Amino acid sequence: MLPDASKRERLPAEPPRVQVARQLEGFVPPPRFGTTLLDTYAPTHESQRAAVAHVSSFVDAASHVPTRRWPWQRSGQGAGLYLDGGFGVGKTHLLAAAWHASPLPASKKRYMSFQELVYLLGVLGREGAQTAFEDVRLVCLDEFELDDPGNTLLIAMFLRQAFERDMRVITTSNTDPASQGRGRFAAADFQREIQGIASRFDVVAIDGADYRAGFRDASWSTEWEMREAETRVAGRVIHAPFAELVSTLEKLHPIHYRGLLEGVDLFLLEGVTTIPDQNTALRFVHFVDKMYDLGVPLRASGEVPLAEVFDAFYREGAYAKKHHRCTSRIREMLGEDVGVRGVR
Ligand SMILES: Nc1ncnc2c1ncn2[C@@H]1O[C@H](COP(=O)(O)OP(=O)(O)OP(=O)(O)O)[C@@H](O)[C@H]1O
Ligand SMILES: [Mg+2]
Repeated sequence: MLPDASKRERLPAEPPRVQVARQLEGFVPPPRFGTTLLDTYAPTHESQRAAVAHVSSFVDAASHVPTRRWPWQRSGQGAGLYLDGGFGVGKTHLLAAAWHASPLPASKKRYMSFQELVYLLGVLGREGAQTAFEDVRLVCLDEFELDDPGNTLLIAMFLRQAFERDMRVITTSNTDPASQGRGRFAAADFQREIQGIASRFDVVAIDGADYRAGFRDASWSTEWEMREAETRVAGRVIHAPFAELVSTLEKLHPIHYRGLLEGVDLFLLEGVTTIPDQNTALRFVHFVDKMYDLGVPLRASGEVPLAEVFDAFYREGAYAKKHHRCTSRIREMLGEDVGVRGVR
């Protein structure tokens, strides 16, 4: 029998704010990648085999950096590994696996998204960030993306100081380091910072097919599928008409989107339609990314084909990769079982 829709919750009018700066020890791989291992990465391309070897030896080296040096020993040897590739080739898988593989204690390694780091640097300020990362030896940073001069300068400064302290950084991106920022802001004016960042990273290009291709044909859920999913989850079900979600996201800084999703066992999104402007689209992308990382099961219905959620007018512009990645993730989520939360 189909469930009574009355047990559904609506989005909260006042979503809980996430106290990011107070949760430094909470920067670990998110539920979707909570148990991801190098051993479970099955390379399907030569470059993927090479990437596993790179990641593995980088993690090894990062775990054996001396924490104290004698005055005559050179410092500033920190280094970065930059996993660059298209969506679904397993970059985040390798990043999370690196965190798990590192024998460093949890207090000396952090896993966070690039967005979270930028937000954190803004909240903590220069000195606060220095203190917060003082003992950290390894940072795993997902989705490196320079969006504007502000985040470029913040990150450039953070990395400079971090590398001086011998910190190691592994990061993932859909864009090679030298092309960061292109088309999004006057990146040419920030070449010094961008080159400075790029020069500290070894770039490992990962090719191969989108691992999510198996979900290529996944599409919107029917009313029946949405109801049926509800019968299979015992916990919290949030039901949001698309327009309501859009207006909620508009009122919140993206760092707080997590507060809308934590503890949710099924998210029912109804009536997704074409998003007419880029800013609203980027907020939606960010929300979907959070939902994906947290492994919150999704069922969603749409008024337009999934490929048309992002309007053609901006879809192929400076953020094209973000839009395509988002569609690829939505398909994967819609094609996934809703039974067990956060576990594949
Ligand atoms: N070679 C692989 N072996 C096993 N699982 C893989 C492999 N590649 C990808 N996966 C799985 O496929 C899914 C998508 O991979 P992942 O999120 O790591 O890709 P990505 O390169 O980070 O993509 P995006 O650009 O969307 O961030 C994950 O569940 C991941 O564990
Ligand atoms: Mg990824």
